[in-house]
Amino acid sequence: MTENDVKQRLKQLSMEIRAADQQYYQDDAPILSDAQYDALRRELNDLEANYPHLVRADSPSKSVGAKASGKFGKITHRVPMLSLDNAFTDGDVEDFTARIKRFLNLPEDTVLEFSAEPKIDGLSAAVRYENGVLVSGATRGDGQVGEDVTANLITLDTVPKKLSGDDWPEVLEIRGEVYIDHADFDAMNEAQIAAGKDAYKNPRNAAAGSLRQIDPSVTAGRPLKFFAYTWGDISAPLSDTQMGAVDAMKRWGFSINDLMRVHNSAAEMIAHYHDIETARSGLGYDIDGVVYKVNDLALQARLGFVSRAPRWAIAHKFPAEKAITIVNDIEIQVGRTGSLTPVAKLEPVTVGGVVVSNATLHNEDEIKRLGVKPGDTVEIQRAGDVIPQILRVTKDGGLPAFLYPTKCPVCGAEAKNDIDPKTGRVDIVRRCTNGMNCPAQAVESLIHFVSRRAFDIDGMGEKQIEAFYQKDLVKQPADIFTLEARNDDIGLQTWEGWGTTSAQNLFDAINARRNVDFDKFLYALGIRHIGQGNANLLAKHYLSWNKFYEALLSIDSEASPAWIDLMAIDGVGAGAANAVKEFLQSDNNKTMIADLLKEVNVVDAEAPSSDSAVSGKTVVFTGKLEKFSRDEAKAKAQALGAKVSGSVSAKTDFLVAGPGAGSKLKKAAALGVKVLSEDEWLTFIE
Ligand code: IVH
Repeated sequence: MTENDVKQRLKQLSMEIRAADQQYYQDDAPILSDAQYDALRRELNDLEANYPHLVRADSPSKSVGAKASGKFGKITHRVPMLSLDNAFTDGDVEDFTARIKRFLNLPEDTVLEFSAEPKIDGLSAAVRYENGVLVSGATRGDGQVGEDVTANLITLDTVPKKLSGDDWPEVLEIRGEVYIDHADFDAMNEAQIAAGKDAYKNPRNAAAGSLRQIDPSVTAGRPLKFFAYTWGDISAPLSDTQMGAVDAMKRWGFSINDLMRVHNSAAEMIAHYHDIETARSGLGYDIDGVVYKVNDLALQARLGFVSRAPRWAIAHKFPAEKAITIVNDIEIQVGRTGSLTPVAKLEPVTVGGVVVSNATLHNEDEIKRLGVKPGDTVEIQRAGDVIPQILRVTKDGGLPAFLYPTKCPVCGAEAKNDIDPKTGRVDIVRRCTNGMNCPAQAVESLIHFVSRRAFDIDGMGEKQIEAFYQKDLVKQPADIFTLEARNDDIGLQTWEGWGTTSAQNLFDAINARRNVDFDKFLYALGIRHIGQGNANLLAKHYLSWNKFYEALLSIDSEASPAWIDLMAIDGVGAGAANAVKEFLQSDNNKTMIADLLKEVNVVDAEAPSSDSAVSGKTVVFTGKLEKFSRDEAKAKAQALGAKVSGSVSAKTDFLVAGPGAGSKLKKAAALGVKVLSEDEWLTFIE
């Protein structure tokens, strides 16, 4: 793979993972199977590990899940609720234990304890106690902000309202998994069907749907249970060990998993994994793997986190389930950026208890790689949740090959694969060339514009945008904000499914978004490569929309100061820079933005605050460190807001030099860079 291939792939992976996160966390309607999702995450992690300089600012490895959905109040987690990295093979587990010892600078033969427990397939929740009394409960949301589901969590018998015993800390936030067991799930679905409602697809979706009921009395009638396995904000340590902490939770009245054990080696952990795998079908609740955690909490603290997951834990996942079915058809969907995405329509088949009928084929290359055609018999794979992956064709159906369209199936305009002007490489994604004149692109862009992470207009979703678009009432973003003023002609309250109140609610929701943060505004424009991460980086750099817009319009060559400034932003790559420049310089977009700015006010971004002595400083480590591994030293510096670089330059603020330092030390001396010993550095950061 060339670096450009890697960049393209990282971009594609980011997009797919984000879409899947959104569906999974926000809509309770997963589009990918767990195994498929894990495969994407693994590929992303591997590529990022091998090409750290190509890691995207908006990489999903830097965040967890999707934003809170807005129906409930919000609770900001005082300690972020993170995710877990995955292991798939015995080798991955051995690497995990070895990696931890290396990070802690411990000899390979050191015996370290790890806890091992089932990974429950439900949804995580946090419950907060003050002086032993339950005060609030939240979902994970995006890991930073969750939904306030206190009234709903209170209805669970397994969530104590008052803690037992008296040795709990004054502030105690317990985290665990809300789930529904198999017997209860079956009974609940029978009742759903009897009441003429749709059955839930699986216990996880049923648990998510049941917990996020606006009316807590509905939740109370649902068979939800809570397993406790970790903690968030606490005013005093629970124990010295993971196992000790979980024992304490049990004493205080929480349900804990009785398959949790402590082991001394990867071999013991793997043996336990296989025992749990054998017991899996008889457990009575869904699990999708085994979680291993470093048992010693002092070591956990030293290990810390890498972006979205702790270094001290890993989830060892079970293999995916497979089935054979027929591809009835291949359909092409057109996305916001004109991308044509093939979707395989499958003869419905039950895999692991769930009926599946769709599989995404990603792009033309994937169809070629698999050699799949309508009429073929294929092996598919899924685990945990819906939409499976096609693994291979098992029988040729004898029908002609699928002809990938050269015209957009929605507007009929030419569809082609872009060619990168610099590298001459052909993009794997074919796109409709009709821009906003293509109804599919226009509608998808408008849906993106109002979506949760963009303008977040309550009550304005896919259905509404499609209806307004079809009636020629909303063709571009500004039109959304003039709907109310045009309502004498539109008469929204008279439309089917609308009334005076709902129409007014929509107008109020639109008006509530007339002041919009710079990063959200930029993200909402739906520019290629400008995800939330890049939008945020750009907003933090330019602070004001006007400054940004003027700078971008002034770029006329790669020698323009504004271009050089843009390219120097850490994390913004050439692809994103080019895309944003081209988008803003297009005449159509200039008009679209000018119209929009008559309706909305873009709020300036805040400059990042710096409160640690090394925040924003560039540090280089060289020579042998004695107290920490190089990785631990780097992680600590980054956690304090410093940038860690591999080479000394005039931009370096500190060189931390241990014994054996050589050329870097000389260079630092020559450039007058401040040199510190490991101990001096430690004193300095403390
Ligand atoms: S520990 C800092 N233990 O898996 C991470 N998580 O993929 C703390 N989960 O968000 C998580 N069973 O929803 C942990 N025994 C267990 C778990 C578990 C299920 C879920 C949890 C987490 C997700 C990560």
